[in-house]
Amino acid sequence: MATEELDLRLISEPPTEIACDALVVSAGRPKGSQQARLSSAAQLVDSRLDGLLQESCIRGEVKGNSGEITTFYVPGRLAARQVIVLGLGDLERDGPRTLRRACATLARQLQEKGAKRVALALDVTSLQPEPGSPQSLTLLAALQAQVEGFLFGLYRFSRYRSHNPREYETAGRELLLQVGMAQTAYDRSTLAAAVQKGRIMAEATNFARDLVNEPPNVLTPGELARRARHLAETWDLACTVLERPQMEELGMGGLLAVSRGSSELPYLAIVRYRGAPEQAGGLALVGKGITFDSGGLSLKSADGMTAMKGDMAGAAAVLGAMQAIARLKPALNVTALVPTTENMPDGHSYRPGDILRIMNGKTIEIVNTDAEGRLILADAMSYASREGLSPIIDVATLTGGIVIALGHVYTGLFSNDPRLSAELIAAGEAVGEKLWLLPLDEEYEEQIKSEVADIKQTGGRPASSITAAKVLEHFAGSASWAHLDIAGTSFVDSPKPYQEKGATGVAVRTLAEFAMRHAATHG
Ligand code: BES
Ligand code: MN
Ligand code: ZN
Repeated sequence: MATEELDLRLISEPPTEIACDALVVSAGRPKGSQQARLSSAAQLVDSRLDGLLQESCIRGEVKGNSGEITTFYVPGRLAARQVIVLGLGDLERDGPRTLRRACATLARQLQEKGAKRVALALDVTSLQPEPGSPQSLTLLAALQAQVEGFLFGLYRFSRYRSHNPREYETAGRELLLQVGMAQTAYDRSTLAAAVQKGRIMAEATNFARDLVNEPPNVLTPGELARRARHLAETWDLACTVLERPQMEELGMGGLLAVSRGSSELPYLAIVRYRGAPEQAGGLALVGKGITFDSGGLSLKSADGMTAMKGDMAGAAAVLGAMQAIARLKPALNVTALVPTTENMPDGHSYRPGDILRIMNGKTIEIVNTDAEGRLILADAMSYASREGLSPIIDVATLTGGIVIALGHVYTGLFSNDPRLSAELIAAGEAVGEKLWLLPLDEEYEEQIKSEVADIKQTGGRPASSITAAKVLEHFAGSASWAHLDIAGTSFVDSPKPYQEKGATGVAVRTLAEFAMRHAATHG
């Protein structure tokens, strides 16, 4: 759902004077405390309410746990129609992640109630025992996280519902962010930039969620390529889409083979952002764009196929990140490469036993046509490497094994460069996305040795996510490279208080934040 028409504003009037449908103040639950603690802004509001909020804390009705929402109707006492106390838990421990989720939960509840004009006076700094300590949340990070969470929470994928509920519309809605200007050292434009960054990050995330949630009969490889082109036109980026004849010329044996069983044509969409035109090379973002993964001849079970429209979440993450990058304008060059096709069974399908030649000349012995992602990524990475791009970061719903290893909490991270993986983990931490580094030791190479080709496509069940990454490593050339396996984190099967069932948009914010930091340190 589009939030572009949502009116987002910074205001500095005292919370008691804000006319709105819902005034939201906060309560924390610092480590070891028996009872919720009201923020300074909440206490100010409480002084108009004869201590009603404080009493609710003492009685334990308001506990201050993260995401807790307690509503008070207080006619005549304040300019606001209702006051909401939003629990933020232990901010010192959980940082922006908990704030983002709490604001998303809040947005979902208020949306259902149809509140139009919402004011957040969360006053996060007053809830932290040691503001200014390394773990503490700055006002800027807090503003950004609030906006990200709120807009993330407003997201609904409702375009195919005939009775599209009115309350899901964002037109005519206002989100006011209250900051006591006297209490802060930041000037208005710095604060506004943090709000804008939050908006950009959230809208890019929601853009990626839309791509993943689209059904596979609509989001075909051709349609994904069109959306990449449209993204480029909207944000003034360059775009080239390679078609089959060019792939044949370039020798993209992986992408071509995977596409053969499908009646849809394959594409390689290349989107370029030039933030440092005088520099050569730059960052490459490669996203797996399988618009539907049936497994091919090594057909999946019916159950195993149900979520496979989401097998292009890597492509969506990369395109979402490009949108954010185009708007945030870091001083570096970024190239997104999105190989896209379906993986289907047919008389033309590629087979177990086939030997394919990838664009960089290496040959792969096919074992299982369901391990298609690494083949299309291999061609796109070869292309990026031949262009001299570095680092190369690929994002893919690559293996079921990563779901077994890390569940739905951590994205799997693999890299041939410890500095790059450290930068990615730090970027992820800043935006509330968890990455866990897994090993790529030489010993794993044994599992993908082939007797008939340069490498074997798969290494069997042990450490299957690692051996998949080992295959990819062969196509990075001399580039510094990292691989994000998002098979466990790109999709949620059941609704959560802070998000609806479906796509999460994972990795968009990590990649965009990485690009910003990389430009600042390597520019
Ligand atoms: N797209 C799947 C991986 C996947 C699984 C994504 C579950 C999201 C949820 C991938 O193409 C695949 O099928 N991988 C196989 C490879 C195996 C056959 C070697 C796997 O990991 O099971
Ligand atoms: Mn597969
Ligand atoms: Zn797949």
